[in-house]
Amino acid sequence: QDPRIARISSAIRVIPDFPKPGIMFQDITTLLLDTKAFKDTIDLFVERYRDKNISVVAGVEARGFIFGPPIALAIGAKFVPMRKPNKLPGEVISEEYSLEYGTDKMEMHVGAVEAGEHALVIDDLIATGGTLCAAVKLLGKRVGVHVVECACVIELLGLKGRERLGDRPLFVLVNST
Ligand code: PRP
Ligand code: MG
Repeated sequence: QDPRIARISSAIRVIPDFPKPGIMFQDITTLLLDTKAFKDTIDLFVERYRDKNISVVAGVEARGFIFGPPIALAIGAKFVPMRKPNKLPGEVISEEYSLEYGTDKMEMHVGAVEAGEHALVIDDLIATGGTLCAAVKLLGKRVGVHVVECACVIELLGLKGRERLGDRPLFVLVNST
């Protein structure tokens, strides 16, 4: 394993019982405070995706907005925000997805992507996989963008998010139980 992974892993703070009892919250704000670990995180993604012909990095609000833009800049791709509902001012396409309780909606500007583009979807963490699935579906809607891979800093094992993604490839740096 790349020696940078251990440092990244130890820079992520785990806070028990947040936001509710029983949840071990993976807090990436401490990773952002560790300048070396944060740089290593971005570098690892850039090394993987720089020669993959990716023209779009799509980041999922909110924490995908932290990791997506530096990767997009480094690989020479555009950045497209996948936002919570009613935030984007232009014409949007949207995708509903299920949460633990109820549903949420993700929106993207029409015209942000073109047919045949190759995209990378970035978020901080995959739990049930609902969020990443919605992002992939959104990119495939209307014009049909090809999602090369989804990438996260952390995969919460045990919630079977990877299974929910099916045959869509997923790359993660750190596994957590
Ligand atoms: C968190 C996390 C992922 C998502 C993963 O976001 O940042 O985006 O949950 O969960 P899933 O795999 O079960 O869909 P959240 O919506 O809690 O809030 P955020 O706006 O802070 O990113
Ligand atoms: Mg999120």
